Amino acid sequence: MEYILDTANIADIKHCNEFYPLTGVTTNPSIIAKEKRDFWAIIKDIRDIIGPDKILFAQTVQKTADKIVEEAKLLNEKSGGNFGVKIPIDEEGLKATMALNKLGIKVLMTAIFTPAQALIAAKAGADYVAPYVNRLDNIIGDGTEVVAEIVEQFAIHGMTCKVLAASFKNAEQVHRCAAAGCQCVTVSADILKAVISHPMTDAAIAGFDKDWKGVYADKTILDF
Ligand code: E4P
Repeated sequence: MEYILDTANIADIKHCNEFYPLTGVTTNPSIIAKEKRDFWAIIKDIRDIIGPDKILFAQTVQKTADKIVEEAKLLNEKSGGNFGVKIPIDEEGLKATMALNKLGIKVLMTAIFTPAQALIAAKAGADYVAPYVNRLDNIIGDGTEVVAEIVEQFAIHGMTCKVLAASFKNAEQVHRCAAAGCQCVTVSADILKAVISHPMTDAAIAGFDKDWKGVYADKTILDF
């Protein structure tokens, strides 16, 4: 299971990269625009924090296959390390994915809402597909069920493409995608925190502290 951070916020990336077992960072044009800063400065700052080995995803804003490929090559060159280009699925995106696959540039086909879209993206050579879980749930769909169907379909057809589930609003959605066998989730810092949080955990930690302090006061193991 890979945990990826879905933000371009530098403070969140610094924090989560230090405290969580992240394998990378995803961005999209909306996430980048929220920062209201120079695009390349954001990419450089993210890379400086995560280092060259963790994967950084940035999305093309081009609309035609040739331009998507051109932008993907530039992003790949200037990203400073392990990189994947995000391309929304449509005809031009599929054509660009086939070309980028031949060039060895990793593609994350994004804005996936059905297993049929995911399968054809994988066939075109996408290394990852990103189904949008919460956006499906919001329209009375079942986002985690779609993720489960994609995982199953890839297994049936022997696809090596990874399922990178995206668009989460709670930890239960993350759990259900992991249980369905998706290989990666991309989540906000808040969702990562929600994944590790539980009131019973807080109570257990408070109990350990109280019992220890009742006998040893402020002494720690280092003081024995
Ligand atoms: C990732 O690929 C998507 O861009 C992102 O997770 C969408 O999340 P949202 O539905 O919260 O905007």
